[in-house]
Amino acid sequence: MLENKTIVLGITGGIAAYKAADIASKLTQAGARVDVIMTESATRFIAPLTFRNLTGRPVITSMWELNSEFSVEHIALAEAADIVAIVPATANVIAKIAGGIADDMLTCTVLATLAPVLLAPAMNVNMFENSVTQDNLAKLRARGFAIVEPAYGRLASGKIGLGRLAESEIIISGIRQVLGRSGDLAGKHIVVTAGGTQEPLDPVRHISNRSSGKMGYSVAEAACDRGAIVTLVTAPVSLPEPIGMEIIHVRTANEMKDAVIKATASTDALIMTAAVADYQPKDIAVNKIKKTTDSLILELIKTPDILSEVKGNFLRIGFAAESENVVDNARQKLVKKQLDMIVANDITSTDSGFDVDTNRVTLIDHDGKVENLPLLTKREVADRIMGKLIKLFAR
Ligand code: C5P
Repeated sequence: MLENKTIVLGITGGIAAYKAADIASKLTQAGARVDVIMTESATRFIAPLTFRNLTGRPVITSMWELNSEFSVEHIALAEAADIVAIVPATANVIAKIAGGIADDMLTCTVLATLAPVLLAPAMNVNMFENSVTQDNLAKLRARGFAIVEPAYGRLASGKIGLGRLAESEIIISGIRQVLGRSGDLAGKHIVVTAGGTQEPLDPVRHISNRSSGKMGYSVAEAACDRGAIVTLVTAPVSLPEPIGMEIIHVRTANEMKDAVIKATASTDALIMTAAVADYQPKDIAVNKIKKTTDSLILELIKTPDILSEVKGNFLRIGFAAESENVVDNARQKLVKKQLDMIVANDITSTDSGFDVDTNRVTLIDHDGKVENLPLLTKREVADRIMGKLIKLFAR
C-alpha cells in the first residue's frame, strides 16, 4: 500500500512535532517516498536534519530557498503527492487551511494539491475544544479532509484532556486507508472473522485452539487497504487492533454467529478466517470446577456451523485447516458449505498454519480451479485472496 507512494508529510509547530520523526521513519521503511515540509515554528521544536536523515530526502522549510529542488516550482510537491499528511496539525495551521491562506510552503501545497489531505490535530485541550477550531475542522471534514482525531491523555501543559497526537500506528493506518479509497474494492462491504473462539467450561476455564488471528487480521487489513468497508468479527487474540475498520469482539462460536448474522445484513462478502470451535461444553459450571476426582468427563455438544447457517446474497469464502488429504477435504467443505472459494492449508508443517507469520495455502474455487500458492507471509496470502475475490465480484 505504501510502497512507491509519494507522501508529503507536513510538520507544524507543536510539541508533538518530535513524534512525526517516528512516522517519517516508519513510512520510509515501508517503501514510501516521504517529502517533509516544515513550518517555521516546527523547526523550533525539531531539527530539519532529523527528517532529512530519516527520509533520505531534502526537507523544505521555506518557499524562498533558492537551492531547493522544489523552490522554483512551488507547487511541484502538490502535484507529486499521493497524499498530504499534516502531523501534528496545530490550531493555527488548521485555521489557515480552512480559510484558504497560503503564506508558507505547507499551506501553499495544501491549497494547490488535488491529492487527499489528512490532518492529525494535536494541541492544548482548550484550543482543541474552542468552537473556532471545531468549526474549522467541521469545514475541512465537509471538504473531504481526513481527520485523525487526537487522543485523550496528559498534555504538555500537564492538563489531562483531548488533544494528544494520535498514536503513530493510528495515523499510519489513517494514511493507508485514505490511499486505499480508490482501491479495487472501494465501495464493497466485507465481513471478516478472525481468531479462535473460546468455549467456557466454568468462570475461569475454556476450550479453544491455537489460532493467533494473524491470518484473519491480515485479510481484514488487505481488504481495507483496497478501499473496502470492513467489519472484523474477532475472537480474543493478542494482536494490536487494526485501524480503519469496524471491530466486533466476541468470545464463543454462538456469539460469533450472532455477530456475523448482524454484520452480513448488508454485505458483499463474508470471509470466515476464524478457527471456530467445533464443540462447546454442554453445561457451563457456575463456580470453578474443583479437582475432587481422579478423572473428569466433559460432555460436549456441537457448535453452530456459521458458514453453513448464515444465508444471504453475498460471496462466501471459507478456510480449511487440514492435517491430511488437504485438497480433497477442502473441496468437500466447499461443496457442503456452498462456498464460492475455500482457502486450504496443511497445518502439519512448521512454517505454515497456526501461530506463525507465514502460510502455504491452496485456493480452490467453486469451479474446481485449484491454485497452489508458495510459502508467503500471511499478508501476501491475504492480498492473493483479495485478487481472487475481485475476480469473483467481476463475475
Ligand atoms: O468444518 P471446518 O471447521 O473445517 O470448516 C472450516 C471453515 O468453516 C472455516 O472457514 C471456519 O471459519 C468455518 N466454520 C464455521 N463454523 C463452525 C466451524 C467452522 O463457520 N462452527
